[in-house]
Amino acid sequence: MLIKIRSSLDIASSEITSESAYLNRRKFLSLSAAAGATSLLPSSSLFASADASAFQNLPSVNYAPGEKITPYETASTYNNFYEFGTGKSDPAKYAHEMTTKPWSVVVNGLTDKPGTYNLEDVLKGLELEERVYRFRCVEAWSMVIPWVGFSLSALLNKFQPSPSAKYVRFETLNRPEEMRGVRSFTSSIDWPYVEGLRMDEAMHPLTMMVVGMYGKELPNQNGAPLRLIVPWKYGFKSIKSIARISFSETRPRTSWEKAGPSEYGFYSNVNPNVDHPRWSQKTERRLPNSLFSPNRIDTLMFNGYEEQVASLYAGMDLKKNY
Ligand code: MTE
Repeated sequence: MLIKIRSSLDIASSEITSESAYLNRRKFLSLSAAAGATSLLPSSSLFASADASAFQNLPSVNYAPGEKITPYETASTYNNFYEFGTGKSDPAKYAHEMTTKPWSVVVNGLTDKPGTYNLEDVLKGLELEERVYRFRCVEAWSMVIPWVGFSLSALLNKFQPSPSAKYVRFETLNRPEEMRGVRSFTSSIDWPYVEGLRMDEAMHPLTMMVVGMYGKELPNQNGAPLRLIVPWKYGFKSIKSIARISFSETRPRTSWEKAGPSEYGFYSNVNPNVDHPRWSQKTERRLPNSLFSPNRIDTLMFNGYEEQVASLYAGMDLKKNY
């Protein structure tokens, strides 16, 4: 998305998934249980290649029923991850230069548990599941992806945000020596990449923290080792390679809001009725596509998750609050 300046689970699972997947869902496999008799997940076991099975045979819920899953090859090679360049193939070429093990996450702001945590400690005891979601980029292409992770709420609750926390802010790793886009990119993105959610959006059961996709650990270009997925929002809200989580009373300023405030708002809900100033948002290219097979489909309000999330925005003018 090059910018102008060049340079209470209220979704009944039975409504949205097959009965067998629904029943399966009851059998949540806790990561710690999968890791063995001890209730502690052994350090780095989840991310050791020997433990790749931790990402497989998980309970799976399809939130895009009847839609074709995008091939892994497409989802892992057509990416936006500006820290590695602005070309769609740059992340797949260069993101391997980022070290993701070990990984730590700083938690601060309005929380009772501030600190710097190893990823293994952050993930301890969380239950992995697979969720198939539509993913819609603001640039009007889209995919359907089986993500592996857990509800963001489960993670945030661990940090006991104070009742005065109204927003959560996420920050991507900022390591120029391993990120050629950060070293050389002259856009107005003010590194590190920052995103944010209102607390009620963050705690919504569809909001997911992701560690894998297609039954495997996340590849670096898709935001390893920890990324957000907010399926009813444009893809840029789904920040990758998260290294800091902060709770605040005031609304954080996000990278794209700073870079192009007339084009990218804080909410960024998928909305076919509000065009981007430079292109329509009424339709999308479902990847993979080609000149002869454009695969253009109508964009759905809230990316098809209106029933589940519209109440979060009751009374708001969505043309103003884009
Ligand atoms: N996160 C960081 N840190 N840097 C980025 O450039 N790009 C965003 C989002 N998260 C981006 C990011 C955009 S514009 C999109 S569309 C999605 O990541 C792409 O996610 P995907 O590569 O898994 O499809």
